[in-house]
Amino acid sequence: MNPNKVLWEKGDFTRIAATMRESGEALVASLGITRGLEVLDLGSGDGTTAIPAAELGAEVLAVDIAANLVAAGKARAERLGLSNITFQEGDASDLHELGDESFDLVVSIFGAMFASRPDEVANELVRVTRPGGRIVMGNWIPGDPTLVAQVLRISSTYSPPPPAGFVSPMTWGVEEDVVRRFTAAGVPASQISFERDTYTFHYPGTPSQFLGEFRTYYGPMINAYAAAAADGREGELHAELGALFEEQNVSTTAGTTSIPATFARVTVAV
Ligand SMILES: C[S@@+](CC[C@H](N)C(=O)[O-])C[C@H]1O[C@@H](n2cnc3c(N)ncnc32)[C@H](O)[C@@H]1O
Repeated sequence: MNPNKVLWEKGDFTRIAATMRESGEALVASLGITRGLEVLDLGSGDGTTAIPAAELGAEVLAVDIAANLVAAGKARAERLGLSNITFQEGDASDLHELGDESFDLVVSIFGAMFASRPDEVANELVRVTRPGGRIVMGNWIPGDPTLVAQVLRISSTYSPPPPAGFVSPMTWGVEEDVVRRFTAAGVPASQISFERDTYTFHYPGTPSQFLGEFRTYYGPMINAYAAAAADGREGELHAELGALFEEQNVSTTAGTTSIPATFARVTVAV
């Protein structure tokens, strides 16, 4: 089975996504979505951005590699009575089921960056976008000091080395790599812009309880804990992550957690 599917079907990302809804809505509100706009959300999870886009009247296709998240997204859309959104399984590096130039806006927030074969991902993003349309990606940045970049960095230092030829998802947070991929896919560099933005995680518990959610439900962290345990380093990993979550918390209300995390917002005019 596709290792990405295995990774993201592990645990339950909906538990983390529940802490990201406010930022998802704010990001979508900034996209100038109008009724009837055809939107693809790639690596949609359970709809943190896809559902607000549908609520603004867009016709949304939400594609994700994880069957459990597709099912969770369908259930959320049904509960909200939304008939203008479809969730389906698919792989961002091979969207053969989608026609060329099908969407006005392709959104992928911390989604397609995790797919294997990033050059194919860039090709597919450009192929399915209509001329005159846009691609908007949210990508974590390597070396950034905030939460998710640090979680992924720390997790990787406790995990076995990746297989030969592996390209780190974090390269999607490096401007030159992103520009190279999209120019190779046929978009002039002048049509690619890169800016820093912030997502804030809000959790109704302590930073240590929030880390507990990641440890139990976030695929990449589940793997890191398993690898650390196999090396007898689980306590060390837990202490390092515990310190990170405490240090990043900016909430002034006791027993609650708010953690802002910086990401690269990439906009490509196709
Ligand atoms: C960090 S979550 C983000 C989910 C959602 N965009 C959000 O903001 O809540 C990453 C998502 O990317 C999906 N994903 C990973 N690799 C993928 C691939 N190759 N194709 C499509 N989705 C993928 C995962 O299943 C997961 O739902």
